[in-house]
Amino acid sequence: MTSPTSLAVLASGSGTNLENIAKAIDEKAVPAKIEIVISDNEKAYALERARRRGIPTRVVRPADFPSRDAYDHEIAAILADAKIELVVLAGYMRLVGKELVEKFYGRMMNIHPALLPAFPGTHAVKDAFEYGVKVTGVTVHFVDEGEDTGPIILQEAVRVKEDDDEDSLYARIHQAEYRIYPEAIRLFCEGKTKLEGRKVRII
Ligand code: GRF
Repeated sequence: MTSPTSLAVLASGSGTNLENIAKAIDEKAVPAKIEIVISDNEKAYALERARRRGIPTRVVRPADFPSRDAYDHEIAAILADAKIELVVLAGYMRLVGKELVEKFYGRMMNIHPALLPAFPGTHAVKDAFEYGVKVTGVTVHFVDEGEDTGPIILQEAVRVKEDDDEDSLYARIHQAEYRIYPEAIRLFCEGKTKLEGRKVRII
């Protein structure tokens, strides 16, 4: 990896993880540079956060492409142009297709608000809360072709309190996200993550 490592962040929504990662980079806790923020949603507040920080942004709208493959091909071209070394999905609400997974396998991370393999999918906090688990948490993993199935890099457990509702639980899950996503990125940038089959060793 070069130092700083070139990152692209893909985000569809509010972008608090993006903000937090950018802050960790500013504070020199993570040896990386966010070269570009890409969104599938022109209204994503993540784009505004990026603009305020002077980070280049791109909106790639799925509706402008005939298929998911064509869409992903465009994303792959943007990432290649920007010489991106690590792709960080931060609230990116689309499944990543074959071309991108193959090009970036082991160099593309996602964060998921549950302890995988429990509660994959887009409603993880609600699903875990309604199931009645006593412990849930956060997972950072490399992206493969499945939905939230790739090799796990870091996890942090979050206890469910008796008086929690979904929002209060999600608030604590976010706090755990803000701890472990920058940490996982740092480990990767420093060459300390080693992918061995479906396991990630932290060396
Ligand atoms: C996070 O909870 C993350 O785990 C999930 O999407 C949410 C994004 O939040 N994949 P934000 O846009 O970073 O605030």
